[in-house]
Amino acid sequence: MSENTTPTTQTERKKRVFSGIQPTGVFTLGNYIGAIRNWDKLQADYDCLYSIVNLHAITVRQDPQALKKNTLSSYALILACGIDPQKSIAFIQSHVPTHSQLAWVLNCYTQFGELSRMTQFKDKSAKYADNINAGLFTYPSLMAADILLYGTDLVPVGADQKQHLELARDIANRFNGIYGNVFTVPDGIIPKSNEGARVMSLQDPTKKMSKSDTNTKSFVSILDEPNTIIKKFKGAVTDSEASVHYGEGKDGINNLMGIYSALTSKTFDEIEDEFRGKGYGDFKVAVGEVVCEELKPIQDRYKELMTDKAYLEKCYREGAEKAEAISHRIMNKVNKKVGFID
Ligand code: TYM
Repeated sequence: MSENTTPTTQTERKKRVFSGIQPTGVFTLGNYIGAIRNWDKLQADYDCLYSIVNLHAITVRQDPQALKKNTLSSYALILACGIDPQKSIAFIQSHVPTHSQLAWVLNCYTQFGELSRMTQFKDKSAKYADNINAGLFTYPSLMAADILLYGTDLVPVGADQKQHLELARDIANRFNGIYGNVFTVPDGIIPKSNEGARVMSLQDPTKKMSKSDTNTKSFVSILDEPNTIIKKFKGAVTDSEASVHYGEGKDGINNLMGIYSALTSKTFDEIEDEFRGKGYGDFKVAVGEVVCEELKPIQDRYKELMTDKAYLEKCYREGAEKAEAISHRIMNKVNKKVGFID
């Protein structure tokens, strides 16, 4: 998958960006560094759509009240992280029915074998063995629909979504091969591996940091209080050496260096120099402090936004209207191509 992030000139159509996040809990530092932080940066040069993907969330059983609450707070959080509803289209997936409509069509152009190979499906079906529903299996076709519905050029995601994105490209190419050029084949924007593409669990640094982890010490939520953040970093699992350097078998320290580097833009060499002669304790506190500093303005803005539900509603309603209007062009084209009567 190539990464083509060259913005267009004024006279051309701006390239389109689409990304989404599930409202299954408060976002983690992994979501922030791996994805949302980059969503913000792309707004200046691209035509961006960002969605709270609640249709994806119900592939795992959700408490309805909690899902509603999390959807609204997730929406507020993306705005707090810098998504500007005047510049970008920010919406809730279930408000735009063309996502489900296109997903059904794409399901018919996605192979059982392809879906069976998805590692997220394998992981989730092991984790939720009593509810391996068809939606969990066809989740990647819905994700492909999200992306392809808007003629998306670029998809900023963390490394864990790469396989889904590759499948979206395969589906687009397959459909185009049959019907001519209907879909744009999207490219991913995935951070470099040492810049937060995969932020790992603080308790088991061989696993990705995840908001659905039952051990809350394993992740930093972007709404955690500063003292909780520092405590979580102090308790981060590391190896038994003492000097701060990147290396094989040092997953815990490598992860902390990745977080520190992503937020300070310092290289690993610079970090090693900065902490030469100091122990892991000092380093862990320093990582915690830069994280607190980064999250403070987001937390303040989030609190403010949550006091103005009318504003949030206005933004997500307008966002859905704009998204739906754009989506009809491709949806109509698809309907025509497959032979649905107008
Ligand atoms: P979700 O909700 O699991 O995560 C949202 C974004 O955060 C990234 N991410 C991470 N990045 C680095 N380190 C981590 N530990 C980490 N955890 C999560 C994810 O890669 C993602 O970019 N299927 C998607 C949502 C989706 C989507 C889409 C994304 C639905 N439709 C269309 C892009 C385009 C998901 O479950 O993300």
